[in-house]
Amino acid sequence: MSFKSIAIDGPAGAGKSTLARKLAEKLGYIYVDTGAIYRTVALKVLWEKADPADPAQVVPLLEGLEIHMGYEDGVQKMYLEGEDVSGAIRRHKVSGAASQVSAIPEVRSFLLEFQRRLARESSVVMDGRDIGTVVLPDADVKIFLTAAPEARARRRLLELEQRGEAADYEAILHDIRERDYQDEHRPIAPLKQAADALLLDTTDLDLGQSMSCLLSLVKEKIGP
Ligand code: DC
Repeated sequence: MSFKSIAIDGPAGAGKSTLARKLAEKLGYIYVDTGAIYRTVALKVLWEKADPADPAQVVPLLEGLEIHMGYEDGVQKMYLEGEDVSGAIRRHKVSGAASQVSAIPEVRSFLLEFQRRLARESSVVMDGRDIGTVVLPDADVKIFLTAAPEARARRRLLELEQRGEAADYEAILHDIRERDYQDEHRPIAPLKQAADALLLDTTDLDLGQSMSCLLSLVKEKIGP
């Protein structure tokens, strides 16, 4: 049996995880949020009070690192040393640390095989930054999902407000720009569109419109 793989890459806040999850549900594939894996490594670094920007402190922590992924009612869960950290990895501090550890080559090569194995074992919709370029260069469909930083900041603001959390548009926009810069300028596996990826810009699209565009792009490639 041959499994299919769909790679969805793009910057933070473009709607990747929501769209990738829905797409996987529609197709009956497994959804893999690779950012959550980097976030789990970052959490370990923070647990150890190490500096996520310093390879000399981060790399030794990879040895014996106990990370597991599981699914509960179709929702991806991350476990660090047996503890469910799916909520903890979403904290603001972890986002910055994840971006820093993801720039370390040893961290990326450590996680490469972990991600490839998932795609060998099932049909997947995998989202991240380098899925179409590095992790699954032979993916059946590659999508580069993006939106203007301002649109991404507005969406994030709304999300936080709906959760009743205090938020400031300018601070969010600044944060998004900083993470984009870090992700696009790291020397290894930087965020960029694969030559054979289809571009989907959701700046002027709502979720429903983005989903229909995504579905038609995917169906064009792999059939109904
Ligand atoms: O998608 P996210 O915000 O959860 O990702 C967290 C960080 O992990 C992000 O700053 C970039 C990094 N990342 C990566 O380098 N490669 C991936 N395939 C996924 C995420």
